[in-house]
Amino acid sequence: MHFPVTENVSWVGKIDWELRKFHGEEYSTHRGSTYNSYLVRDEKTVLIDTVWKPFAGEFIENLKQEIDLEKIDFVILNHAESDHSGALPELMKIIPDTPVYCTANAVRSLKGHYHQELNFRTVKTGDRLNIGSKEIIFIEAPMLHWPDSMFCYLTGDNILFSNDAFGQHYASELLFNDLVDQAELFQECIKYYANILTPFSAMVDRKIKEVTGFGLPVDMICPSHGVIWRDNPLQIVTKYAEWAANYRENQVTIIYDTMWDGTRRMAEAIAKGIHEADKDATIKIFNVARSDKNDIITEVFRSKAVLVGSPTINRGILSAIAGILEEIRGLGFKDKKAAAFGAYGWSGESVAMITGRLREGGFQVVNDGLREFWNPDQQGIVNCVSYGRDFVQQVK
Ligand code: FEO
Repeated sequence: MHFPVTENVSWVGKIDWELRKFHGEEYSTHRGSTYNSYLVRDEKTVLIDTVWKPFAGEFIENLKQEIDLEKIDFVILNHAESDHSGALPELMKIIPDTPVYCTANAVRSLKGHYHQELNFRTVKTGDRLNIGSKEIIFIEAPMLHWPDSMFCYLTGDNILFSNDAFGQHYASELLFNDLVDQAELFQECIKYYANILTPFSAMVDRKIKEVTGFGLPVDMICPSHGVIWRDNPLQIVTKYAEWAANYRENQVTIIYDTMWDGTRRMAEAIAKGIHEADKDATIKIFNVARSDKNDIITEVFRSKAVLVGSPTINRGILSAIAGILEEIRGLGFKDKKAAAFGAYGWSGESVAMITGRLREGGFQVVNDGLREFWNPDQQGIVNCVSYGRDFVQQVK
């Protein structure tokens, strides 16, 4: 399946309607994804990025319907990760001498993945490739989100090919941002940012300033996943700038796991207290063991504060809570407040342990946490409501 993007640019990628997990099992893709590849025709013909390896055969057969492969003059690989480079080895078996333009880090990464010598041409920010009446300008984008990542810009059509940046795991045959459900689109965008780009927010901020500083007109942003931004394309750049600036809404997210309902009842009573003290705050509650990890991380990203609860088991915490705390630590959220709670029967280490993990993860812990004995009685529930009320005052 191919789609025209402009008169001389075609989308030649793959829509993966079935995909439900990405990065192995790490990232849930409720709405599938796309691997976007673009064919640019001028006096020279350029292929930008390929698709994931399982679709290599299909990709090449489809590409042959569009063009005689021998007529591809240049391949540009903006990013070496397998979802974009996976079909490259198969393609290069057919056109082995065609130059492959990418960063020096991408050469190292591609050799590490595929152990193959190709006709690599390494490029740096500001290098230009003349393709006839137009040029392609390369812009390195290290750590957005791999060391090898790069953008490229097509003059004349004023298109920024941004690879993973500004993308979404969102399968749609509608191709353009103005044609799809906006709530779905922005949910996938923020989920993508929260789960993948959060650790690199300082680089996102710097890169946005650098690219806008070039003063290049941008009529379209073509990412490597999801829909193309053609209607007000800079709206997603504005969103990224907001998200990169220690983003938070007036939201408190409570995440917990529970064995015999004690910690669940605490979570709900704490939420009641928060609501009593701040009617405007959005409160979201997740049982981590029963919820999608990436959706929870997206809600933590939106939050000004989080509460994390687990009962004590074997002098520790439940494994689902340990898992999400490790994810959150790695993402390095900034400027968020937090505290812990949990039910206990005898030793009761969970609250102190969660508090320590939250501090390691960079959260500002606002109190020593709340423990309740076994399944909270009436006084225990009153304590939880009161704790919620105090917490929301502490995180204002
Ligand atoms: Fe879509 Fe970093 O690969």
